[in-house]
Amino acid sequence: MIELRGLSKTFRSKHGSHEALRDIDLTIQDGDIYGIIGVSGAGKSTLIRCVNLLERPTSGAVIIDNDNVTNFKGYKLRNLRTKIGMIFQDFSLFAQRNVLENVMFPLEIHRGSRADALRRGRELLELVGLADKEKSYPSQLSGGQQQRVAIARALVNRPQYLLCDEATSALDSLTTNSILELLSDINRELSVTILLITHEMRVIEAICNKVAVIHAAQIVERGPTASVFAAPKEQITKQLLSTLGSKMLSKEGVSRSGGAASEASLPWPSSLSGQSTATSTLMSSSGSAPPDSPPEHSLGGP
Ligand SMILES: Nc1ncnc2c1ncn2[C@@H]1O[C@H](COP(=O)(O)OP(=O)(O)OP(=O)(O)O)[C@@H](O)[C@H]1O
Ligand SMILES: [Mg+2]
Repeated sequence: MIELRGLSKTFRSKHGSHEALRDIDLTIQDGDIYGIIGVSGAGKSTLIRCVNLLERPTSGAVIIDNDNVTNFKGYKLRNLRTKIGMIFQDFSLFAQRNVLENVMFPLEIHRGSRADALRRGRELLELVGLADKEKSYPSQLSGGQQQRVAIARALVNRPQYLLCDEATSALDSLTTNSILELLSDINRELSVTILLITHEMRVIEAICNKVAVIHAAQIVERGPTASVFAAPKEQITKQLLSTLGSKMLSKEGVSRSGGAASEASLPWPSSLSGQSTATSTLMSSSGSAPPDSPPEHSLGGP
């Protein structure tokens, strides 16, 4: 469980200060796909970056699995981050490394065996449907394929939590659909709790069981997605909902349409479409759970 308690963040510079988050209280229960939606500049990225302490809150607490981690540093912080994968809008892959090397990167920097890292990297590429692309470089992949590589890399340490910062915003609608389906399957079959931020209500509608609306640094509305959609209270929520219209991706649409169909070169991984036992072992098998975690920069890629 991730809890944010009275979280505030003010950026200060010689030109003045800017309050990006004000008194945020939020609880993400295990198993949730919790969506945070807001317009540009609302504070979404700042909020999600506070969860893994890429950004240090000015005040308040980040509590993960009942541990107050707000001031974690050094090995405690590195260990914490093995529990928390993150993916970004721009994929943040290493251009000079091939797909397999990108996925293995968080393992490589530890002292585990290369054979274990290779095995784990290939398991993850299988999971995201890119087993045949391990030797390709990011520039040779579509945006959707690059995001799959980033998802594989984020899962390599078997995290409990996955943070997604506008993970589909750079993708077309059908590819978005396929990535959302992958995230949904990862949540369900690998028991990974997901916190995602987006400015698109269709993303919330497609996969989130809960939603919070952030506006001008504060959470102004929250609840189960169905309740908020059925009876939005705040004007900003109504405005965001009004963007849905024909672009809406229903839950059924996501689970039925299959990203596989939208990306012909990406066969939907069979491990995600019925063989949950095999899939689950990916997060619990012997593998090479490293003793430590990657440095801060590796969360953001190069
Ligand atoms: N490092 C920083 N220094 C100063 N101000 C910052 C910094 N990072 C963010 N801000 C400011 O904090 C506010 C919130 O930024 P944030 O990136 O969290 O917004 P966002 O909701 O993610 O927006 P977008 O949808 O455009 O990504 C913005 O006004 C931004 O300019
Ligand atoms: Mg942002």
